[in-house]
Amino acid sequence: MIQFPSDFVWGAATASYQIEGAVEADGRVPSIWDTFCATPGKVENGDSGAVACDHYHRYKDDVALMKELGLKAYRFSIAWGRVLNGRTVNQAGLDFYSNLVDELLSAGIEPWVTLYHWDLPQTLQDVGGWTNRAIVDEFLYYADVVTKALGDRVKRWITFNEPWVFTYLGYASGVHAPGITHIPDYLSSAHHFLLAHAKSVPIIRANSSDSLVGVTLDMTQPEGDERAAERLRALHNGWFLDPIYFGHYPAEVVEIYEQAGYMPEIQPGDMEAIHGKPDFLGINYYTRQTIEADESDPVMLSRPVHMDESEYTEMGWEVAPESIYRMLKHNNERYNPGAMVITENGAAFQDVVSADGQVHDDRRVAYYNGYLTNCQRAISEGVPLMGYFAWSLMDNFEWSFGYSKRFGLIHVDYETQQRIPKDSARWYSQVIKNNGF
Ligand code: FCB
Repeated sequence: MIQFPSDFVWGAATASYQIEGAVEADGRVPSIWDTFCATPGKVENGDSGAVACDHYHRYKDDVALMKELGLKAYRFSIAWGRVLNGRTVNQAGLDFYSNLVDELLSAGIEPWVTLYHWDLPQTLQDVGGWTNRAIVDEFLYYADVVTKALGDRVKRWITFNEPWVFTYLGYASGVHAPGITHIPDYLSSAHHFLLAHAKSVPIIRANSSDSLVGVTLDMTQPEGDERAAERLRALHNGWFLDPIYFGHYPAEVVEIYEQAGYMPEIQPGDMEAIHGKPDFLGINYYTRQTIEADESDPVMLSRPVHMDESEYTEMGWEVAPESIYRMLKHNNERYNPGAMVITENGAAFQDVVSADGQVHDDRRVAYYNGYLTNCQRAISEGVPLMGYFAWSLMDNFEWSFGYSKRFGLIHVDYETQQRIPKDSARWYSQVIKNNGF
């Protein structure tokens, strides 16, 4: 029997642009993802979040489904461009989230709110987006508006989702919105993210008494050559977490970026402002990164290796359940964050609706089983993991992959918007009920 602590938080997660649709409703202004999706060749099949799961109109039914599954918590994000047009508050947009929060609370489900899950208003991108230091004040203004409106009822806040992804994929590799390919823009964006995150924490705490405020990172877990693994962790995790927990960027990476002339402008007082322990560290974790040493790459020191014996998901991500245990142990020792939460974990598989009208997603059940078993193992060894959110509550718009990847516990028919809880949803529901399996 795998048993979890009695106060363990069991949830499922989504994000605004991936599920809401209704992009023109009630005064919402366009985001960089609307623009990106409208740019030919950026998103598979020309898909966009214009309709998605139509959650904006169906949120009551969706909350009812969550209640049926017995979810204790629901993580969702706010679309900045629904609640603000420039600095003008759009009350209708704010009301949507306020109603959603009330609906959740009356269903006995704790709302966990992410302020920024990538859908930056396009007007802010037009003046440089995350590369422009002025974004920090814009974010603080936005965070203040949202937490003033919802802070009496929402007590769990996540400032940002996956800063490496939205800064690196958005501004260096260009595979995410806004599609820029300039490494210095990645690093200035990352620096402005750090400032925006850190400076928003006291504002959120002031507007939402007795709340917990955290930040969510996509943690890489490189496995193979140890020296190269250390380098990859410094490049990916350390660049964001060392400033927060230690007050400085990792020295070995600074050296690399300095030589290349990539370093962002750091103003006096910045690192002191960034240095500060959030109430919890949110971690999104799906797979490990298997590597072997390769000295011909002086930055990465390694190259990726495919594990022929392993199972891979539709994303091409290796199913590596034991690595979540090692990742949790490592980060707990390195950063001593006090409390950690898995804010996303899950898998995309090629689901089919069977003749019986059900979705028998055994591989997803096995995936969850393996990762949760290893989360519990970490907890039993003293890792302060306080909760777990499955990604995702329902199939949705998977960014540059469009609708081609299904991660949901609930199947969505995008033609009819019919929801069908998959076998994994039923399994997870039992896990929550029994607080283990
Ligand atoms: C994470 C994102 C989330 C979802 C999953 C599959 O990087 O935070 O929105 O797309 O991956």
